[in-house]
Amino acid sequence: MKAERIGNNRIEKGEGKAQTIGVVGLGYVGLPVAIGFSKQYKVIGFDVDKQKIDLLKKHNDITREISKEELAASDIYFTSDQTDLSLCDYIIVAVPTPINEHNEPDLRYLIAASETVGRNLAGGATIVYESTVYPGATEEICIPVLEKTSGLKSGKDFFVAYSPERINPGDRQHTFQQIEKIVAAQNEAVLEKVAALYQSVIEAPIYKAESIKVGETAKVLENTQRDINIALMNELAMICERVGIDTFDVLEAAGTKWNFLPFTPGLVGGHCIGVDPYYLIHKAKVVGYTPVFLEAARKINDSMAGFVHRTVLDDIIRFKYDLEKLTITVMGITFKENVPDTRNSKALEIVQMLLDDGLSVNIYDPVANPEEVENELGISLTERKNLQPADILLVLVPHQEFLTMTAKEISGFVKKDRALVFDLKNIWRNHQLPSFINRKTL
Ligand SMILES: NC(=O)c1ccc[n+]([C@@H]2O[C@H](COP(=O)([O-])OP(=O)(O)OC[C@H]3O[C@@H](n4cnc5c(N)ncnc54)[C@H](O)[C@@H]3O)[C@@H](O)[C@H]2O)c1
Repeated sequence: MKAERIGNNRIEKGEGKAQTIGVVGLGYVGLPVAIGFSKQYKVIGFDVDKQKIDLLKKHNDITREISKEELAASDIYFTSDQTDLSLCDYIIVAVPTPINEHNEPDLRYLIAASETVGRNLAGGATIVYESTVYPGATEEICIPVLEKTSGLKSGKDFFVAYSPERINPGDRQHTFQQIEKIVAAQNEAVLEKVAALYQSVIEAPIYKAESIKVGETAKVLENTQRDINIALMNELAMICERVGIDTFDVLEAAGTKWNFLPFTPGLVGGHCIGVDPYYLIHKAKVVGYTPVFLEAARKINDSMAGFVHRTVLDDIIRFKYDLEKLTITVMGITFKENVPDTRNSKALEIVQMLLDDGLSVNIYDPVANPEEVENELGISLTERKNLQPADILLVLVPHQEFLTMTAKEISGFVKKDRALVFDLKNIWRNHQLPSFINRKTL
């Protein structure tokens, strides 16, 4: 057990815990992974964000994925001292892999994390990348960085595996333990070892992929498939709007066929579905293929915020609202339901467009962190109790709290003479709303 080797008592021996697992990057992915392993292994959780480490030491997770109680019950050693990684038998890397302003892969975090791991790598250790990357990135980018910074040889002095993460923030059913996990590695022996490691903490089966490239491609495909299917529904929504019919009525009718897939139109933001396809697009182009279908889907989904904004403006004109007096309430500004994350939020993009139009907009979001939104985005959130009845109510994100609102509560958010409720995801379809409310969906 490598944790035994230190003499300064900073890291205690994991009683009965045979191996030490390091997790690099303690965000939406890394923290649940660290918690999952900590039940059976000594875990060292490393992050460059010192403030995050301080909060985690006090059992506070800003992503809200892990409760205070769970953090308090775990004995994870949280640290921003990279030399602690030299104590690990396995190091799992879960740092961000975003895109740059040209929609190309931005591997800065992954390279920096690989340098950190390489500099502090103990001989014989195994590094498992969980970050989403394009096919080939682990072997073409990460391994050379590890070798250069460690002076060790991959496959001989240290070992590399890839295990894409499928965690779905805000989803309490599909958790780290319950999701079938793909594992891939640079050779058969490492594959068996890493598969056994994950199987020891995961209840769902482990799928051993043919190669690291297959594992990398499978992950980006999963999110690309969702992107394309949502894009198809979004294109349908744009057609239905022109035809003058409700998209969700069409989907309900078509959904009666046994093999119709239940996708719905919506805003695709965040850092997975809206990002990962660009990783596949990048690799396709590198190998000399222009993926027309993938690029079209990205273009459609990226245009949806503009489409919703334009639809709202059309209605403002159609219903002859007095712009001076018009008030709009927006419910939900995070990138998806039940998570506080506002990064690359398309709902936020719509809010910004309405504010740029000079319209009066009040925003309510029960999940977003008000201080963070104020500090980082310069937007103030309104508390639910302070919301005044508005002319237009836009429900952009289907947070749990909105799903359970009654027709009476919804009516209280709008003016009593005439009001427009833009129920983007059709969450209030079963409500009998009063006749002064005109409810629209995407
Ligand atoms: N969030 C999801 O839903 C999800 C699901 C599956 C896969 N993924 C993938 O997992 C990876 C991580 O995503 P996330 O959502 O957890 O990101 P995140 O932004 O929530 O967390 C990443 C953490 O890494 C830390 N970090 C950045 N650079 C570092 C470095 N050099 N060394 C140590 N720590 C560093 C950050 O401070 C942050 O705490 C990405 O590749 C993402 O595509 C995300």
